Amino acid sequence: MRKKIVAGNWKMNKTFEQGLNLVDEIIQSSAIHQTPEVLKIIIPPFIHLHSVSEKTKHINDIEIGAQNCNNNEAGAFTGEISAAMIASCGAKYVLVGHSERRQYYNETEAILTQKVNHAISKDITPIFCVGENLTERNNNTHLETVKQQLKETVFNLSVTDFSKLIIAYEPVWAIGTGVTATSHQAQGMHNYIRSEINKKFGKETSESISILYGGSCNPENAKELFACIDVDGGLIGGASLKANDFVAIANSF
Ligand code: PGA
Repeated sequence: MRKKIVAGNWKMNKTFEQGLNLVDEIIQSSAIHQTPEVLKIIIPPFIHLHSVSEKTKHINDIEIGAQNCNNNEAGAFTGEISAAMIASCGAKYVLVGHSERRQYYNETEAILTQKVNHAISKDITPIFCVGENLTERNNNTHLETVKQQLKETVFNLSVTDFSKLIIAYEPVWAIGTGVTATSHQAQGMHNYIRSEINKKFGKETSESISILYGGSCNPENAKELFACIDVDGGLIGGASLKANDFVAIANSF
């Protein structure tokens, strides 16, 4: 059975103290223990990683991820953080290919591929994000866009490495906008991604990889989205900044 996952991407929010308070609230929420079979991944800014990891290390269903890592192994890259560094702080996951990184930091498919490889080499699981923009959705080229994003990056991995990934489908027009993809749109794309994985890597891999939906997911719409057969959970931005909302979403399977 595929893993059910709810990952909270805090983005550039929360001071150190606010972040630790949020984690305490999540851990102390009695509701969260209703879903031990759902993996919760907390993805705070780098500065929180070690402390959040210390707070959660005894909790089986909570893991820690980083929002980014550099595409180089180590060296003179002022201000950057490597995959080995985030691993040493307790991170087990890293976001790669988030549309905000592609858009604001010009992350190309070549860079994303290097990031994925570095992360895997340090035993970090990449959560690889794909998704079309509004023009592509309106022009009905969204499937082609997502296929291309996969083809130029993670479809070049070996089947063994590809099987280690989590995929997140995040339509750019739904991120932070309050406009969520309908369950029909989400299921359509998730099913398409899974069928492309099947063609490339075979049935076993396509059936076992978790594909998360991201984009204005909240406690009101999560149940319907997660009920879709090919939606294995969510990558949550805004709603992950409130403990009650994050826990409610994690309880939405
Ligand atoms: P959102 O962000 O939930 O605020 O739309 C999702 C994401 O970017 O991961």
